[in-house]
Amino acid sequence: MSDGRNDTAVSQLPADDALSPPPAFVDQANVTDPKVYDAFDAEWPTCWRRAADLLTWTHEPETVLDDDDSDGVRWFPGGRLNASENCLDRHIEAGRKNQTAIQWEGKLGETRAKTYQELYQDVNAFAAGLRDLGVEADDVVTLFMPVIPELVVAMLACARIGAPHSVVFAGFSADALATRMERAESDVLVTCDGYYRRGNAVDLLRKADNACLSVPYSTTEIVVDHLDGDQFFGDRHRYREILTAHDGETVDPVERASDDVLFYIYTSGTTGEPTQVRHTTGGYLSHVAWTSHAVLDLEARDTHWCTADIGWITGHSYVVYGPLALGTTTVLYEGTPDEPEKTRFWKIIERNAVDVFYTAPTAVRAFMKWGAEYPDAYDLSSLRLLGTVGEPIDETAWWWFYDHVGGGECPIVDTWWQTETGGMMLSTLPAIDAMRPSIVGRPLPGIEVGVHDSLGDEVPRGETGQLVVTKPWPGQPKSLCDGTAWDRAHTTDDSEHWRYLTGDSAVQHDDGYVSILGRLDDVVTVAGQRLGTTEIESAIVATTGVAEAAVVGGDDGVQGTAVHAYVSPEANVVGDDELRQHVCDNVEAAIGPVAVPTTVTFTTALPKTRSGKILRRYLEAIANGEDPGDTSALRNPEVVGELETLVDN
Ligand code: WTA
Repeated sequence: MSDGRNDTAVSQLPADDALSPPPAFVDQANVTDPKVYDAFDAEWPTCWRRAADLLTWTHEPETVLDDDDSDGVRWFPGGRLNASENCLDRHIEAGRKNQTAIQWEGKLGETRAKTYQELYQDVNAFAAGLRDLGVEADDVVTLFMPVIPELVVAMLACARIGAPHSVVFAGFSADALATRMERAESDVLVTCDGYYRRGNAVDLLRKADNACLSVPYSTTEIVVDHLDGDQFFGDRHRYREILTAHDGETVDPVERASDDVLFYIYTSGTTGEPTQVRHTTGGYLSHVAWTSHAVLDLEARDTHWCTADIGWITGHSYVVYGPLALGTTTVLYEGTPDEPEKTRFWKIIERNAVDVFYTAPTAVRAFMKWGAEYPDAYDLSSLRLLGTVGEPIDETAWWWFYDHVGGGECPIVDTWWQTETGGMMLSTLPAIDAMRPSIVGRPLPGIEVGVHDSLGDEVPRGETGQLVVTKPWPGQPKSLCDGTAWDRAHTTDDSEHWRYLTGDSAVQHDDGYVSILGRLDDVVTVAGQRLGTTEIESAIVATTGVAEAAVVGGDDGVQGTAVHAYVSPEANVVGDDELRQHVCDNVEAAIGPVAVPTTVTFTTALPKTRSGKILRRYLEAIANGEDPGDTSALRNPEVVGELETLVDN
């Protein structure tokens, strides 16, 4: 260790104790006044003007919130702005055109940087090109690419002309892409030729072409040559040629109303179909800019690295929009943490002098498994703040992260939020609140949550219930701005109140901090990615020879979650390796490699109630090596014993 920060023994803290923010961090932080919570409470909803004030509006909002029940909720009504102007033009006007906007770290160790000026030029040229191809405001443009600079260019170019983008995770299959295009009636697709995954070239273009063939209308395809191969282009357009043809052109940013849609994103919900979420321009951008400022403590001079794929909401909010709205340098990284070697992350932090590092607990658990020698060999002293998102972080992983990555000097923010919330909702404020390892934190200023039982009554502190959001928030999606979409709880005292059901089970402690216990619905979070078990089950059942299937989340052996599938073959079909392969191939084709089960257990029957409902909690217990308990509710209790022996093997 060159800076001597990690020489100390592992930090110790009595159970249930809390850790104060390090003074050196507090001295320089953006939000340091503990009264911020009370101030937001007292001034709600006007308090949210502070978030809007981080942006440049071409027309200032008339008010902060219009929540007249009959037409639903509108944040910053009357306000007009453009997201690309907020992420580019204003920083250039402020004299920071030569600052790096995006620093890309490619898979093979190659790097590319773009200053704000260069990003502005590419975005303008591509926006002009999109217009030339007939894209107008409100047309939905689908983006299907790995994390490469061109993806950010395309997002901001869409934003510039008021065309909502819909980024689809590059690991998804052609079918999944086609469903998402069709649901948004999107007929323009920007993709790339391919990328390397663990040394193998993935032919993204073939997936993109297949998706375009299967949507019931004609499409325009634009292709980035990322692999620089000499592909046959046919009537597809080349990204590079579009940029050259429109080089030097500028496109005036299209003024958008605050609640005009900035982007579409799909997430796994409780139904078999992906849920469409549409985020607004003014509300969403204010929310992510404010949380980047208050929670990630970002400033223009910082280098921020959020490791999420841009295909997920975390990438939208904290790789692209939040950091760029604040004029920060944002690191984009393509690939995986151990390719080409397990030192990759620490090299990236050292080389770029990263200030703020925001990642997923699943990554932290992997680093911990590989060993402290990897981070310990690098100078990570540029780091000032660490953050996690996506799933609970257990105490061991938390301390490991704190000691070996943060050198015992960086606060950690454990941030809870969802695709539907747009930005962070629960977290500590790093210069104000004490950290309690493995416990998320309180609702951020201006956010109100509750923990409810199934009737809609608040449960007492310390008891488990469903986490609900009880007041509107700026990053709320369009569907939740419509009054009819709210959940109206009728409590036992007959009062009626608005709430958004998060689907997470949680406990709020006496001090207001919240522990997230897991999902209540049929959603599993694997490596920080949300998957619907129903979608996976449908893909399995579509396999010839399969009668029935149930999918649960279970232990992956490294304190994370893996997909466990229980499959019951049709009579006289043998559950062998060939069938297992077909099951996995079908899941990969329908959803993508991320959803492929890690274990497929064949069984003659699934545990069912007398009314025929599959009781997944027994399967979950088995997958986690726990005692399934009383099986008397089952029609076929013997199946549980049979499955336990099968899984033990
Ligand atoms: C889970 C990702 C515990 C939770 C931003 C939520 C978390 C789902 C945390 C949303 C956290 C997110 N602690 N669990 N800090 N953050 N989750 O939509 O179950 O991909 O409902 O958004 O991830 O996943 P999504």
